Amino acid sequence: MRKSHGSRLFTAGIVLCLASALFVACKDDKETTKPADDTLYGRLGGTPAIASVIDTFLVNVLKDTVINARFNSLPGSRVTALRQNLIDLVCAGTGGPCAYTGKSMKDAHTGMKIKEEEFNALVGDLIASLDRHSVPAKEKNELLGILGPMKAQIVAQ
Ligand code: HEM
Repeated sequence: MRKSHGSRLFTAGIVLCLASALFVACKDDKETTKPADDTLYGRLGGTPAIASVIDTFLVNVLKDTVINARFNSLPGSRVTALRQNLIDLVCAGTGGPCAYTGKSMKDAHTGMKIKEEEFNALVGDLIASLDRHSVPAKEKNELLGILGPMKAQIVAQ
């Protein structure tokens, strides 16, 4: 039996609808898929993950008897500012979309006469936090490689 003109039109309409639905679906998919962020910032998990690492790090520092006297005397508002500065420093230093607006490492630590043993204790507290958050060895070493060279501006100033 020959198809009527109306039924052919109906079939053509369905095909067109399916084709345009597929096109829209594909187009949407393309537009919502972000390019992979392969910066260290992206691989660490962005600002929320960095903030979690810094929070655990600060808890570790406040429990660390080698260095906690340096921080226990700070008022809460200074600890809050230090936390934000640390997040910004790590975010900016790892290729993230942040600006670090705190003091230079030399200005921030001048007059403190920080010993090498204290620097190592603080790095140990950071490593413990990175491990606690299951940061892979590659990312952990890259971050330590960024912070390590700051030692010269921090120790014995
Ligand atoms: C790689 C190692 C370190 C980094 C990245 C670092 C980073 C910072 C930053 C970003 C600030 C805030 C600067 C500002 O207020 O504008 C700061 C302040 C400070 N840091 Fe460090 N620091 C490091 C090592 C140390 C060590 C080893 C000690 C002592 C054990 C220490 C003790 C302090 C203290 C007491 C302050 C001052 C907080 C205040 O008075 O508000 N830091 N540090």
